[in-house]
Amino acid sequence: MAKFSTLFVFSALAIQVIALPYYRSLAGLSERELEGILPRLNVVTPPPPPPGPSNHTCVKLVNDAAHPFMTLQDGDIRGPCPGLNTLASHGYLPRNGIATPAQIINAVQDGFSMDNGFAILLAYATILVDGNPLTNLMSIGGKSPLTGMDPPQPAIVGGLDTHAVFEGDTSMTRADSFFGDNHSFNQTLFDQFANFSNQFGDGNYNLTAAEEYRFFRIQQSIAENPQFSFISPRFFTAYFESAFPLVFFVDGRQADGQLSMENATSFFRDMQFPDDFHRADGSKTADLVNNAATAIFSAHPMQPGGNNGTVNSYTFDPNSANLTEGCKLYTDFVNNVVVPLYPTPQGALKVNLNANLGFLFSAFPNCTQVFPYGQRGGTGWPFVSVIMDFCVGRIKC
Ligand code: HEM
Repeated sequence: MAKFSTLFVFSALAIQVIALPYYRSLAGLSERELEGILPRLNVVTPPPPPPGPSNHTCVKLVNDAAHPFMTLQDGDIRGPCPGLNTLASHGYLPRNGIATPAQIINAVQDGFSMDNGFAILLAYATILVDGNPLTNLMSIGGKSPLTGMDPPQPAIVGGLDTHAVFEGDTSMTRADSFFGDNHSFNQTLFDQFANFSNQFGDGNYNLTAAEEYRFFRIQQSIAENPQFSFISPRFFTAYFESAFPLVFFVDGRQADGQLSMENATSFFRDMQFPDDFHRADGSKTADLVNNAATAIFSAHPMQPGGNNGTVNSYTFDPNSANLTEGCKLYTDFVNNVVVPLYPTPQGALKVNLNANLGFLFSAFPNCTQVFPYGQRGGTGWPFVSVIMDFCVGRIKC
């Protein structure tokens, strides 16, 4: 009898453990939950990030025969990032929307000529807070089942949709999480984007339109979202993402920072390269993004902060990094975002978190590395990154 009840308790626990992770990322799971999950995963040691495309920076056709656009199949995932959505729809990323950091880095370099440093920063920041550090996979949208595994695996893949760890408020074409859907293309917001482009860019999204629309969206969130949050890292990403379309969504042969509404629709709504689209010159994208982000911020400088539970209550947050504090961005992200998600990792999880933290740090080589889980299993990576170009120019690191 005792044997039976022990068995029963164990089975009940097992069911609980198995059921729990099905639609959840690892972040925030208890030690016991993690222990139950670990044996059921293909644990992967994260490989180092791919290097920059040293001799592949040329302007070239990327909407090519090898990368045809395909409509979504059942189970394919897309999310808040129009760049990654497009890369998945053209097969630069796995079309199901589940990828490793290395696949993401290669895809953004090959498809859009994103700088290696930016690519590393974005890919490792997001695997740490949105992905599964054990399987080294993350979804570019919602949490999802792992398909095609033999034997079938439980779905323990986090996603970029997760709010307030990387994804944040005041997006250009996605609503704030407070209003429900923080990741789908929002036609009303895109119409605003187009109106600003008409008013300030003569029909194109250009630097002036970007400056005005970024500021407008912040004011709109202040006026409409009682829980509006605009602190690091979102404080940084909002300005950089406003710059991305000027650099990456403009055909590399044109490269004048003038994005037509036709092409903007193709990327933001349809997740598709325009016909004959050529990527940008990769030797220039880092400077262009940094300069544009700086200009967008400088046109209407804001202090990091947020509303206090009511609309129009925006208050400066002195604890958040501002745009002159690149190293604080890094340190606070590790200590205040990653560590609360994984307070006491053990075993393979700790090793993989440390490895990913080391890769992330490689995007901040002039800062002092922090080791929240001790120094074993991952150190800095000797890359000279774009963030440092930005830091030298703007940020005191
Ligand atoms: C390197 C890996 C990348 C990651 C992990 C990533 C992740 C994300 C995430 C999580 C967001 C949502 C942020 C938010 O609005 O709350 C976002 C937005 C955005 N991303 Fe990416 N991204 C990456 C690369 C790119 C590339 C290469 C492009 C352009 C080609 C791009 C263009 C954008 C734009 C324009 C937005 C803003 C969307 C909007 O405000 O409506 N991203 N990205």
